[in-house]
Amino acid sequence: MLEVSDVSRQFGGVYALRDVNLKVAEGELRGIIGPNGAGKSTLFNLISGHLPADHGTVSYNGARIDRLAAHRRAALGIAIVFQAARIFRGMTVRENVMVGSHASTGAGFLSAVLRLPAHRRDERLIRERADAALGRVGLADWADRPAETLPLGQQRSMQLARALCADPKLLLLDEPASGLRATEREALSALITELHETGLTIMLVEHDVAMVTRLADRITVLDLGQVIAEGTPEEVRGDQRVIAAYLGEEVAT
Ligand SMILES: Nc1ncnc2c1ncn2[C@@H]1O[C@H](COP(=O)(O)OP(=O)(O)OP(=O)(O)O)[C@@H](O)[C@H]1O
Ligand SMILES: [Mg+2]
Repeated sequence: MLEVSDVSRQFGGVYALRDVNLKVAEGELRGIIGPNGAGKSTLFNLISGHLPADHGTVSYNGARIDRLAAHRRAALGIAIVFQAARIFRGMTVRENVMVGSHASTGAGFLSAVLRLPAHRRDERLIRERADAALGRVGLADWADRPAETLPLGQQRSMQLARALCADPKLLLLDEPASGLRATEREALSALITELHETGLTIMLVEHDVAMVTRLADRITVLDLGQVIAEGTPEEVRGDQRVIAAYLGEEVAT
């Protein structure tokens, strides 16, 4: 489904990613791990189109997408939940999920300003999609609450719902469990598993190696912008280079 070939990206002469090759099969849940600064978020931004690569290609369902803008890739079914995604305070959970969907319905800015019928139809459609997505993540009863009153675990589910509005086929999750308590992590893990079981292809960046080990079909390990290991969780866990890269950090427990 996804093929990243020889992709490199530098920032100020330093490689954030260097000659990265990666293939993800449809229906797979791929874990991406690696120390801070390994290039994990950069990889996601190159796949979703929020950053251009200096070199290399990205293909999705057999077609090159690396020259497409982020919104075009989103329309093809690639959704990203950014690391430390922000919430809109003072807006309800539903409104937070609706934000960002407007670009994908088509009636456009002018009709929104003039509140033309096409816009009202769009609003209704977006609202229906948002409510469906909130249902999928178990937040149907929280839709009218101010977003900032949600516990952190539910705020992460809300970010997931926002991504699900676009009905993605490939979902990129960048450290969705950071800062969560153990019970919230478990709930989020269960939700990710559920989404995976509906057929969604998922790439999961996470520092919690134990969580990734439990969820992922395969794991890719990045270090200093390069893929240093890839395989099943069992294979990766025993890899000497992975253990070395994580020295001083918590290795799979
Ligand atoms: N916009 C940017 N400008 C300059 N340097 C950047 C930028 N984005 C990333 N980098 C650098 O590229 C490297 C990879 O960063 P990236 O954010 O992809 O790492 P990461 O694996 O996601 O780390 P973390 O686990 O801390 O989120 C780092 O050295 C980082 O400082
Ligand atoms: Mg990151």
